[in-house]
Amino acid sequence: MIVLGIETSCDETAAAVFDGKKVLSDIVSSQIDIHNKYGGIVPELAARRHMEMLLPVVHEALQVAGVSINGIEGVAVTQGPGLIGALLVGVSFAKALAYTKKLPMVGVNHIEGHISAILLEEKVTFPYLGLVVSGGHTSLYIVNGIGSYRHLGSTRDDAAGEALDKAGKLLGLGYPAGAVIDRLAEGADPKIIKFPKAMIHESQYDFSFSGLKTFLANLVHKEGKEFAEKNLNAIAAGYLETVVDMLVDKTVKAARENMLNTIVIAGGVAANSRLRQKMREAGAEFGKMVLYPSIPLCTDNASMIAHLGHSYLGMGKRSGLDMNGIPDWPLPEGL
Ligand code: KG4
Ligand code: ZN
Repeated sequence: MIVLGIETSCDETAAAVFDGKKVLSDIVSSQIDIHNKYGGIVPELAARRHMEMLLPVVHEALQVAGVSINGIEGVAVTQGPGLIGALLVGVSFAKALAYTKKLPMVGVNHIEGHISAILLEEKVTFPYLGLVVSGGHTSLYIVNGIGSYRHLGSTRDDAAGEALDKAGKLLGLGYPAGAVIDRLAEGADPKIIKFPKAMIHESQYDFSFSGLKTFLANLVHKEGKEFAEKNLNAIAAGYLETVVDMLVDKTVKAARENMLNTIVIAGGVAANSRLRQKMREAGAEFGKMVLYPSIPLCTDNASMIAHLGHSYLGMGKRSGLDMNGIPDWPLPEGL
């Protein structure tokens, strides 16, 4: 079945064509330039931009895939979680397409898309431990199979990407700042400026990043902007190292305690080079295989939606024309 995947949950308008074996096209139109000057995503502007861009993005995805609209056999769309106005653009488009072309359609979960994106590139055996780290989420799950997850823990405050983006705002790095901090930290010594790690009870798999941002705000306030500018690389390296260490410690602990031999990291922050390196090193120490998707599959994209939708459509799952966006949608729990 040739599936068109549509993603509009946040600030990327994306469409992809997947034939069950191969991604034939994957087009992403980013809105970063629109939201950058506001230091974060403006939901109303995001929805409007999706409305402008979705049709040309789908058109390009079909063209690159070499498939006409009549060659599409199923539609998959991100139904949630995400910004409701943004989600509704993709959902409405999918419904109109499914109705007019009489196509089967399924709404899928964006986080489930991230956590299963690895299956497009690697042969992974279930169960595996999934760490989803993005601008809106930081969660650990046991992945038993498509549609079957056990939630182990999440952030209690900011998501890891949010923590990096907020640091970027304090340091005047623009939005989003994760990739910029990644570059600034490269080669710099993370031990020059040390940041505090949040103490979450040993027995839990939760995270906390908001204290880190407060520490940085106090540091910039106390030492001044000139100090921050002069020590930008050391600050970026120290801050990133603390975020990475908190993620690595809890993830490896969860893999060991739940006897899972494979760790998969997914979501925008999984593009981070330091996180990839340190997770691999820490995993290797305990015989855990650490996998992460290629960079375009880490950040928001529609391949992961088309791929997941293809699986669900194959299982016979369908969404009706009464489908609505779900801004807050937990992953389906399994065994
Ligand atoms: O998954 P994603 O594209 O969108 C959401 O669903 O949130 O993730 C976006 C997040 C942002 O917070 C961004 O700063 C972060 O991913 N990010 C990175 C890197 N590239 C993107 N964080 C650290 N290092 C990177 N290289
Ligand atoms: Zn995402």
